[in-house]
Amino acid sequence: MIQASAFKHKTDHRFLVGTKFFSESICLENKRNLSLLSKSLSYTQLRITCFVIKTIRNGFTGSMLHQSWARAPVLTSAPGSARRQESLCLPPQLWNTCHPPELVRPTLEKTLKILQLDYVDLYIIELPMAFKPGDALYPKDENGKFIYHETDLCATWEALEACKDAGLAKSIGVSNFNRRQLEMIMNKPGLKYKPVSNQVECHPYFTQPKLLEFCRQHDIVIVGYSPLGTSRDESWVNVSSPPLLKDPVLNAIGKKYNKTAAQIALRFNVQRGVVVIPKSFNPQRIRENFQIFDFSLTEQEMKEIEALNKNVRYVELLMWRDHPEYPFNDEY
Ligand SMILES: NC(=O)c1ccc[n+]([C@@H]2O[C@H](COP(=O)([O-])OP(=O)(O)OC[C@H]3O[C@@H](n4cnc5c(N)ncnc54)[C@H](OP(=O)(O)O)[C@@H]3O)[C@@H](O)[C@H]2O)c1
Repeated sequence: MIQASAFKHKTDHRFLVGTKFFSESICLENKRNLSLLSKSLSYTQLRITCFVIKTIRNGFTGSMLHQSWARAPVLTSAPGSARRQESLCLPPQLWNTCHPPELVRPTLEKTLKILQLDYVDLYIIELPMAFKPGDALYPKDENGKFIYHETDLCATWEALEACKDAGLAKSIGVSNFNRRQLEMIMNKPGLKYKPVSNQVECHPYFTQPKLLEFCRQHDIVIVGYSPLGTSRDESWVNVSSPPLLKDPVLNAIGKKYNKTAAQIALRFNVQRGVVVIPKSFNPQRIRENFQIFDFSLTEQEMKEIEALNKNVRYVELLMWRDHPEYPFNDEY
């Protein structure tokens, strides 16, 4: 069982390196003392990220963030000093067009080459839906319809296992997998490694109680994305669900602790053992998102926040709902 107490925080020696590119998020630690920070990066930003990772590994004491280019890099960090290198967490993501087993290792190797690294800490399958392999990240036919590809999650998983065995990834995990898809992997004949984490939407309006419990039982860490309710970009966000950070309960509890609604939302997840990866371009908010380790919510407040659950996703990915492995048709 994953206990909330397993998520220890080392705020004493963690701070952020913030630039407008490397603004970031929150960090918290999983059982192996890794921190996760997050943010999407363009290709150019990725190159800068490479520089920063190297800087950190070469001795810069600090922390920073990460994330995905071509569903590749993410990075994170944490404490300085002698264990600096071990405390960097680099979890790139395998994109939908790279699911065929023969593409997995070359894709990761390409990422490693760009990052100029020998290994990543965590390699995850970003979505359980394969797309036609090729240069287009979102392959479409002449009618504008997405071109899917045969999805064999077990075969893709075996390729990730091989990357771990080859030392290219310390740990392997998934994202946006539902219970059935997790079980498919875990019940796979000859399974060598089960997923260490499942990155899914998780915040007070979408608390994921059943998936969280299932993952706890199987020692899979839930990494909560969009923990502040997303940027509400209408091109991919379900904005019919109200803005999380305007919630009166979160704001009222925040007043009591002299914290913002964002800090209460993050603290809520951290306190129930969910890793959070908020994103911000704003240095002040980045700082704010770290300042959640100096107070605790009471049991009653945790219950009040749990009761806010609307069971409605901000990130529905409806454009792919006809994919055979679309993950959000199942209850959880
Ligand atoms: N695996 C997946 O399928 C998946 C899907 C979605 C997202 N993600 C990842 O999850 C991470 C975060 O998710 P997200 O970007 O969707 O949403 P989020 O972190 O919940 O929200 C980001 C929004 O919140 C604002 N914000 C940040 N800190 C704030 C604060 N303290 N107070 C008020 N507003 C604040 C940001 O604006 P400012 O920049 O102006 O501060 C931005 O508009 C990203 O790295 C993303 O890549 C993964």
